Amino acid sequence: MIIIVTGVSGSGKTTLGSLLAKKLRLPFFDADDFHPPANIQKMSMGIPLTDQDRLPWLEHLADSMLQWENSGGGILACSALRENYRETLQVVPKIIWLHLKGSKELLHERMNNREGHYMKPGLLDSQLETWEEPEYGMHLDVSKTPETLLEEVMQLDEINACESHFGVIGMGVMGKSLALNLAENGIPTAVYNRHVPGKEEKIASTFATTNQEFPLLKGFDNLEAFIGSLAKPRKILLMIPAGAVIDQQIQQLEPMLEKGDIIIDGGNSFFEDSTRRFRALSEKELHYIPMGVSGGEEGARKGPSMMPGGNKEAYDIIAPYLKKIAAKDASGKACVSFIGPDGSGHFIKMVHNSIEYAEMQVLAETVHLMKYGLKLSYPEISKIMKSWGTEGLKSYLLDITVEILTVKEGKNFLLDLILDKAEQKGTGGWSLTTALKYHVPYSPLSEAVTARLLSSQKEDREELAGLYSHRFGAFAEDKVILLEKLKNAYTLTRIINHEVGFNLMHQVSEQENWNLDFSEISRIWTNGCIIRSSLMENMTGLFKENSSLLKTKAIKTKVKELRFDLAYIIGLGLQHAYALPVMSAAANYLFGRITSDSSANLIQAQRDFFGAHTFQRKEDPTGGYYHSDWKN
Ligand code: 6PG
Repeated sequence: MIIIVTGVSGSGKTTLGSLLAKKLRLPFFDADDFHPPANIQKMSMGIPLTDQDRLPWLEHLADSMLQWENSGGGILACSALRENYRETLQVVPKIIWLHLKGSKELLHERMNNREGHYMKPGLLDSQLETWEEPEYGMHLDVSKTPETLLEEVMQLDEINACESHFGVIGMGVMGKSLALNLAENGIPTAVYNRHVPGKEEKIASTFATTNQEFPLLKGFDNLEAFIGSLAKPRKILLMIPAGAVIDQQIQQLEPMLEKGDIIIDGGNSFFEDSTRRFRALSEKELHYIPMGVSGGEEGARKGPSMMPGGNKEAYDIIAPYLKKIAAKDASGKACVSFIGPDGSGHFIKMVHNSIEYAEMQVLAETVHLMKYGLKLSYPEISKIMKSWGTEGLKSYLLDITVEILTVKEGKNFLLDLILDKAEQKGTGGWSLTTALKYHVPYSPLSEAVTARLLSSQKEDREELAGLYSHRFGAFAEDKVILLEKLKNAYTLTRIINHEVGFNLMHQVSEQENWNLDFSEISRIWTNGCIIRSSLMENMTGLFKENSSLLKTKAIKTKVKELRFDLAYIIGLGLQHAYALPVMSAAANYLFGRITSDSSANLIQAQRDFFGAHTFQRKEDPTGGYYHSDWKN
């Protein structure tokens, strides 16, 4: 939606334009800011501009308007005095023109009251002479208050019936939050939710009416009407559960869509399903963008990290919108980037979640050791962990843990009232099966999945705990020294978690020819997403040096410094009966990976012994296979 407020100097274009921009959540632009310096100099000297002066200015405005239109629209305050000036600006099909008119005396008075503006009151006469009154658009009387004028404008059918630039299907927590984020960023947005009698009725329309502060947000309970309200090419974001529901929704949408329309799957779909859907829809000349979205409810509302894949041309169409609603990194750049072909966007989101699982688990293990081994209270643990955040370990998951540890319900800490059964929706497990499929070691991250599975077998655990009288022991060692070692163990485990996840991405990218850019992936994960952290910020630079964190100088130094503290903590923890699945797996992975002398020679010997599976010999550089007659 492009709205141009016209009128001579002093007519109140900026005031009305700014009010409208605020109301519609659209960006506001003042054409005066687009004048080349030579024009400004002339005007401040009281010299009227000629048509020749105005042409480059109007052309610059016209180019800018095309960009605004491609990301939801904008409001422009521009004198546009002559018809041919307005024609130059007519570069987008639907412009809403608002013309401000008033008496010379009133305009004069207003100009005289303006401070610091380069336009001298003496230029008003020349402006009024130049003004060619248009026969189209809405004419507004400047003697009314800006608020009254705003009300009049908001009654315009063209505003209320404007096409939506984005459609969101699915009004769950994430769908609602993303729709509000789009609307807040001035993107005319339509929302739809299916109608299920007695269960899901009028969800989308009610949502729109309860959010009237966003006039460009429209709710539909009818799919055809929703599709009909979208500007072409239609951009439809699916925020519905992963699985068969996505296929059903696509099937329902297909007959209503046209060549070039874009469907974006913003859920946590399995990437192989996304590749299948992408290819099937491409054959029908429909665009499909599988897009990972991270950040939970708050991220979706205020700025998520987004991982779109599929087709770059389609991405380029939606990129200006995504950049508006995305979280911004430390340099202000949007946390969204085109990831690669097929379902690669969903693939990296799946790996993100798998790192998320391991990051959560190592925090859980650390808190457990502090609570039972070091006998610290939750507020004490919270305080210590908070200080870790200031010592290079800052992360979103650490921050929320620090908060969780202090929340009370009555006399109890809420954490103690929560059943120790961790649930999961699938992404962690899919990463594990994917790692196995591509022959990539994944133990620390897969242990986080296993830990959740074990936790969910609560009854079995209770029965066995009774049978074995299993208790965690307290540590006798010096607390200060142990806390330092624990911090180091936590630090190194996190490095390994990230190495393992990114190594899976690297291997799959190589095998699938996806050409993933790990520095860019870590950059878009520095804000908005659940695993954002100072480590992730460092990784953006480290991946420019090497695609393996373990092969970078800085990480090599860290690993050398911390590895025995990790081993120490695991040893101590296991001796005192703590389960430390992710920490132990991280150490096993690390030591297994950084050795040139593994125990696998015996495995080969055993395989050859019982099954004549053959083995290779150290002294044979050709890699030939041998068999030994072991019994003779
Ligand atoms: C995110 C989260 C988000 C969600 C997970 C939870 O990045 O915003 O990862 O996608 O919290 O799906 O997954 P589980 O239910 O499997 O823990």
